[in-house]
Amino acid sequence: MLKVLITDAAGAVHELQGADGDNVMQLARAAGLPVLGECNGSMACATCHVIVDPTWAEKLDPPEDDEEATLDTLFQLTKTSRLGCQIRLCPDVDGISLRLPDAA
Ligand code: FES
Repeated sequence: MLKVLITDAAGAVHELQGADGDNVMQLARAAGLPVLGECNGSMACATCHVIVDPTWAEKLDPPEDDEEATLDTLFQLTKTSRLGCQIRLCPDVDGISLRLPDAA
C-alpha cells in the first residue's frame, strides 16, 4: 500500500493508505474528509482541490490543459494547487503530503 498525508483545514494530519492507481480524491472522500469530488474525476467541478506540499509538487506530472482550466476557476488557487482526482498514487509519490484548502 502507498501512503498519503493530508492536512485538513484545522491542521490535523490524516494518514491514508491506497493502492497504486488510486486517486487522492477517492481516498480522501472514502476517509470522510471534506473532499466532495462532485464530478467523480472528470475535471469539471474543482471540489477536489488540494494544495500539494511544494517538495512533492515537482514529482507529479504537470496538469493537463483541462485540469489547468478547472483550477483557474478557483478562488483559493495556489502555485501547487491540483485536482485531487488527477493525483494518482504510484511508488514515486508514496508518502506525498498535501493539504485541503480552507473552507470557503
Ligand atoms: S472530482 Fe471534479 S474535478 Fe476532481
